[in-house]
Amino acid sequence: MKTKLTASLLLALAFSVGALSQNIATTRDAAINIEPDPPKIPRVDNSDVKRKRAYPMQPPTIPHKIDNYQVDLNANKCMSCHSRRQTPDSQAPMVSVTHYMDRDGNFLADISSRRYFCNQCHVVQLDVKPQLNNEFVDIDELLRSARD
Ligand code: HEC
Ligand code: HEC
Repeated sequence: MKTKLTASLLLALAFSVGALSQNIATTRDAAINIEPDPPKIPRVDNSDVKRKRAYPMQPPTIPHKIDNYQVDLNANKCMSCHSRRQTPDSQAPMVSVTHYMDRDGNFLADISSRRYFCNQCHVVQLDVKPQLNNEFVDIDELLRSARD
């Protein structure tokens, strides 16, 4: 038993040394065997100002707080403002037509189950600096540079 334990410990050690020796691309900013202080939880940007999308077909980020918005079997708080029916009252942007489509491209009367859990794709905007620079060039910019 004891030798088995020592052997597995040695194995685990060999693995971690192996991982250390590789220069793994990471935004972790610390060696794998060091536990850095976690960054502060950033403030949610509740400004209602929409951000530019960073790549085509990106689910837009959420420009408002979503604390305590219930999304479960019984209720979908998001749809109480964003559904086709509610937008005249809420003045929120309507979910796009893709949210009403099933996987065969049929249009449904209500939100598709594939789009029910909004936070699978949409995230709130945070007051943070991006960790990596985005080098994406959109098509308008590409065409403009081709013309010059
Ligand atoms: C009380 C009404 C209300 C509720 C509830 C609500 N929203 Fe919104 N949402 C808005 C309004 C109004 C806007 C337009 C921008 C603004 O005023 O913040 C918006 C903007 C957005 C946008 C940006 C759309 C774009 O084109 O850029 C997304 C994404 C979004 N909401 C997702 C959500 C999600 C996900 C939830 C649930 C967790 C939710 N919203 C709940 C009212 C609401
Ligand atoms: C599987 C991923 C996914 C889920 C789940 C999802 N969305 Fe989206 N959403 C997207 C994508 C991608 C776009 C942008 C392209 C498009 O309109 O399809 C989008 C666009 C939007 C927009 C902007 C529409 C426009 O015309 O600009 C709103 C508002 C929105 N979603 C709200 C919601 C809400 C509310 C829910 C939950 C009921 C939800 N989404 C669930 C992926 C998703």
